[in-house]
Order: sequence, then C-alpha cells, then structure tokens
Amino acid sequence: MLIKRSLFLLLTVFIAGLFASSSGAKLFKKCMVCHGVNAEKKSLGVSKVIGGWPYKKIVKELKEYRDGGKNQYGFGKLMRGQATKLTDEEMVAVAKYIETLKPKKVNKMKEKTISAEQIRYNAFIKDYFLKNRNGTTKEAKMLWKKHLLENGK
Ligand code: HEC
Repeated sequence: MLIKRSLFLLLTVFIAGLFASSSGAKLFKKCMVCHGVNAEKKSLGVSKVIGGWPYKKIVKELKEYRDGGKNQYGFGKLMRGQATKLTDEEMVAVAKYIETLKPKKVNKMKEKTISAEQIRYNAFIKDYFLKNRNGTTKEAKMLWKKHLLENGK
C-alpha cells in the first residue's frame, strides 16, 4: 500500500515536472527571435550568450530589466518590454528551461524546424531593433505584416 502510494506520488511529481518544463519551452519561443533557438546567440549582436546560465542569474537579470531599468548595451527598454510580460513564476519557468540549453551544441533538428519565413521574420525583427533602440515588439510585428503585404512573401 505504502509502495503504491509513493509510486503514485513519484509519478505526480514527474508529470508536474514535465508540465513545468514544457511551459518554460513554450515561453522561450518568444525569446528565440533574438536569443536563438538554443539561446546560443548574442541577441542583436550585443548581449551575452545566455544558454546554460544558472536559472537564478537569469531570473535576477529579468527582474532587473523589469523593475530596475537595467540597460547594459542600450537595449534595456526592449528587454524591459519582454520582462514585464512575464509573471514571477513564468520567469522561473523560462529561466529553468534556458539553464538546460547547451548553446555549444546547436541542435540541428531544432534549427530545421524553423521555416524560411521564420528566418526572414527573425532577420526583419533584428534589423528593426538595431535601427529603433526604443522600438516595441508590437510595432515591429506591425511593420512586418505591412512588409509582407507590400512585398508578398
Ligand atoms: C527583440 C529581441 C529580444 C527578445 C524577443 C528577447 N531579448 Fe533578451 N535581450 C535582448 C537584447 C538586445 C539584450 C541586451 C539588453 C541590454 O542592452 O541590456 C537582451 C538581454 C537579455 C538578458 C541579459 C543578457 C546579458 O548580456 O546580460 C537576458 C537574461 C535575457 N535577455 C533574457 C531574455 C528572455 C528570457 C527572453 C524571452 C522572454 C528575451 N530575453 C527576449 C533582445 C531580446
């Protein structure tokens, strides 16, 4: 009886863990545009490569962007926009996911799952933020849609 119960408990913990990590992965999709699918890029060519960082350090930095107006390379406002969209729990979830990423070994499978359109979109967004340091993701997306309408695919 006791064994059964502890097995059940183990299973629950395991499943909860799965959910937690998948939501971190889902949240990270928003960050990929700039930080890379495996968090292997210097975003916009300026930030550090954050893949594999201890999650506490990532959460600390995200909170500093959100609350303290952290600005290391002139893109603090951009990261503040990202950080204010996350709850404290989501920061921990996404940070724990980033901690598991190993930027040195870029996962080719993951790279392949990105479509040609996604690659063009990423390049467009990067270009936008390089030209508009105080820009917003919302405006960037609007301009991308306009660009698609004007230039076709
Ligand atoms: C539109 C591009 C973009 C997106 C999207 C983005 N970031 Fe960033 N990130 C940057 C830039 C640029 C910096 C450098 C900011 C500065 O000047 O301090 C940065 C900095 C950081 C840093 C600190 C790195 C360092 O060098 O100290 C962390 C941690 C971070 N981002 C996490 C995230 C997470 C987590 C997400 C998703 C929720 C995210 N970022 C989404 C562009 C982006």
